[in-house]
Amino acid sequence: MMDSKKLQHGQWSSSFAFIMAATGSAVGLGNIWKFPYIAGENGGGAFVIVYLLCVGLIGIPIMMAEIMMGRRGKQNPVDALKALAGEAGADKSWHYLGWTGVVAGFLILSYYSVIAGWASAYAVKAFIGSFSGAGSVEIKELFDNFIASPVQLIFWHTLFMLATMLIVARGINEGMEKALRFLMPGLFIILILLVAYAMTTASYEQGIAFLFTPDFSKLTGNSILTAMGQAFFTLSLGMGAIMVYGSYLPSEVSIAKTAFLIAGADTVVALLAGVAIFPIVFANGLEPASGPSLIFQTLPIAFGAMSGGWLFGVLFFVMLVFAALSSSISLIEPAVAWLVENRRISRESACIWAGLAAWLLGFASIFSFNVWSELKIFDRTIFHLLDYLTANLMLPVGGFFIAVFAGWVMKRQHSEQELNLAVKQSYSIWIFLVCYVAPGAVFLVFLHVVGVL
Ligand code: PFF
Repeated sequence: MMDSKKLQHGQWSSSFAFIMAATGSAVGLGNIWKFPYIAGENGGGAFVIVYLLCVGLIGIPIMMAEIMMGRRGKQNPVDALKALAGEAGADKSWHYLGWTGVVAGFLILSYYSVIAGWASAYAVKAFIGSFSGAGSVEIKELFDNFIASPVQLIFWHTLFMLATMLIVARGINEGMEKALRFLMPGLFIILILLVAYAMTTASYEQGIAFLFTPDFSKLTGNSILTAMGQAFFTLSLGMGAIMVYGSYLPSEVSIAKTAFLIAGADTVVALLAGVAIFPIVFANGLEPASGPSLIFQTLPIAFGAMSGGWLFGVLFFVMLVFAALSSSISLIEPAVAWLVENRRISRESACIWAGLAAWLLGFASIFSFNVWSELKIFDRTIFHLLDYLTANLMLPVGGFFIAVFAGWVMKRQHSEQELNLAVKQSYSIWIFLVCYVAPGAVFLVFLHVVGVL
């Protein structure tokens, strides 16, 4: 049974294809939309330091664990965990960890596609010149009217979800690899152009200072949780996306090297997005408005006012759509892989079912901005609740158990063999990080947030 499932499993055509796919998964709205505004809200440089510590000490070891578990399990996260637990002589109920990942992927995709839909709409708005010469009042009105319209939001959400389904339906090599080969270089080129532009503005230094000068007084327990949640979210960890990508990884590829490359590229993109955004904001005499509206309300004013703003506006939002698309395909893949391998349905049908479910759930987020904007659960709209629940709770908890599984449940000889590290001492460091540091840090942060510490 397991072997026939394994046989259906595809493989990346090269290690470069895997690096591109995993980097594509990591680099997304989290880097360009979320990172700059949460860094701004939580004390700039101070937040960046905590975030970098989380990436290095928790993110990279867990990423290695996920890739390693995926490659050894060679199936969707649910069955991979079942097989690995069996191999280690552990309880089969570990496969529930795979399930929480599939569910988290759904929840994230449902609201992710809504925001990606905004980015798509804004790329078109930039193209038709909606921002040119518009002042802050007009841009705010444009944004308010846009999110007040469920029909418009549904339209763009639908379009984005269809694009995701279409790419994933065509398979690992023909669909995902081919799309990524176009999306990823496009994204990097546009980002470099935007950074180069930001460097020519008079406010470049002010932007850099805003992003990197630490203000520790703004760093609260909650901002440490946010930094940790962001590390998980931005690296796509804790929900099996990287695990399922790892399951398509050829056996000779070095897991440690690829994990460092992916985490490094992701961090560089997040920092560069901040470096591109804040100088443009300051150069136009604007305040770096905090919150999710930073790039939809503040940046368009800057694009509308600056010379060449039309081009940079189009480029910026196209980049955002590319980044979101290369991530959304990894959000849906664990569920699609599970359906294909368990329900014996075609990849196309699996994409339709998984996409349809996430699409429908997306309506709850859409309505959070208009018809249900007054509906608050735990003081948050459904959209904010989904974001908080997934990024700050489900992913760190998922990551905690992945670290525990890799460090404490799997047999050392198996993890060592699969990781196949070139330098022997690095295995001891990795084991120490997944056994103690990563789970310990997640646990301490949670204790701190609930007020025990
Ligand atoms: N890493 C993506 C981003 O930063 O936008 C979001 C994401 C993708 C989270 C895939 C989780 C995931 F499994």
